[in-house]
Amino acid sequence: MHYSDFVSRVDNRGKLVVVEFGRDGAVPFEVRRIYFIYGAGPGVSRGFHAHRNLEQLAFTVSGHCRVRLDDGRNSEDVWLNSPSSGLRIEKMVWHEMHDFSEDCVLMVLASDHYDESDYIRDYKEFQTLADC
Ligand code: TYD
Repeated sequence: MHYSDFVSRVDNRGKLVVVEFGRDGAVPFEVRRIYFIYGAGPGVSRGFHAHRNLEQLAFTVSGHCRVRLDDGRNSEDVWLNSPSSGLRIEKMVWHEMHDFSEDCVLMVLASDHYDESDYIRDYKEFQTLADC
């Protein structure tokens, strides 16, 4: 339920994945920023925050990683391992990324520009806000 699958054009030259905005609802927000994480490697964990308003869609363009999603009541671990599947990270969802493969390139589409004041980096504060 967290994934959006994108059209993959496959032929004997390889695969081509298409992400079109504002067309089929697969990206449920206007994209204002794209960022990449790579070079994390095994043993590294990242994230450990939630966003007050930001909506995101994350792809492993290469390799894989495990993402923990926590809405303050339930947490779930999902593997991100396909370049044609986008993982929805909604606002007010605590997320952590673990178990990066050496070749992992995590591409994230985001609904707004970078704004540190949108981050909740303290888990207790997140739990209090998520409870409201
Ligand atoms: P951080 O949010 O700590 O990364 P992660 O969630 O993967 O653990 O971001 C690392 C640094 O990069 C931090 O100083 C903030 C900065 N940054 C930007 O300047 N712009 C951005 O779009 C993002 C995502 C981070």
